[in-house]
Amino acid sequence: MSGIVEKALLFAKECHAGDNSGHDFEHILRVMANAEKILAEEPLADAEAVRVAVALHDVDDYKLGSDGARARSFLSEIGVQEDFAKKVLDIVSSIGFSKSGSHPNFQMIEQAIVSDADKLDAVGAIGVCRTVMYSAATKRPLFNEQIFPDENLTPEQYQNKNRATNHAINHFFDKLLKLKGAMQTKVGKMEAEKRHLFMIAFLREFFDEVRADEWQEYLDKFLKQTA
Ligand code: ADP
Ligand code: NI
Repeated sequence: MSGIVEKALLFAKECHAGDNSGHDFEHILRVMANAEKILAEEPLADAEAVRVAVALHDVDDYKLGSDGARARSFLSEIGVQEDFAKKVLDIVSSIGFSKSGSHPNFQMIEQAIVSDADKLDAVGAIGVCRTVMYSAATKRPLFNEQIFPDENLTPEQYQNKNRATNHAINHFFDKLLKLKGAMQTKVGKMEAEKRHLFMIAFLREFFDEVRADEWQEYLDKFLKQTA
């Protein structure tokens, strides 16, 4: 691994220390592993820019309380080439569900790789766990049978929703079940498909256990509409 990637990872480790909202440093390591898997099938991509962008992609996340300039100042402090820094910052600033939406239109393959790698960590078994962690950290309930998802929610609105109405199960409908359709790379699409099926199985079992029959029907309808 190049020195720049190592430095970026060390920096990210400091930034993410102590986080319990699903944005801990483990998230960065999992996204890096996802990115490596995708990179293995994308030989034309600038692997170093992808790796540095993965390391820095959440250091400026508003949930970590950053003022938005950590990645930029880190890159200028370690003295990387101007065009490399620009490429990394372009990747970091363009990914994320609230920015690129459920059908991203990226200019660079590197953006597609980092976006897919990050989104993979929000779905599947790990996605279920992170959603529960995030909901607990923000004191949101696990499930409120009375409150169905807001179907007209835009990606920008989803994170500003009134906390009281935003229970963990709704997050699957607001975002997680839409991520499969946002994948851009071959490896990303395949892996997302598998993780998507797991989330559906999870929700079916959950609704069965709590006897939320209306929610089973809601899930069927939702899946038909988004298929
Ligand atoms: P990422 O770093 O994967 O892009 P986010 O910054 O959107 O993810 O959020 C971190 C984790 O918390 C993700 O797994 C996400 O699904 C989850 N999360 C985000 N918003 C909510 C919410 N309103 N309710 C429950 N979980 C959430
Ligand atoms: Ni992330």
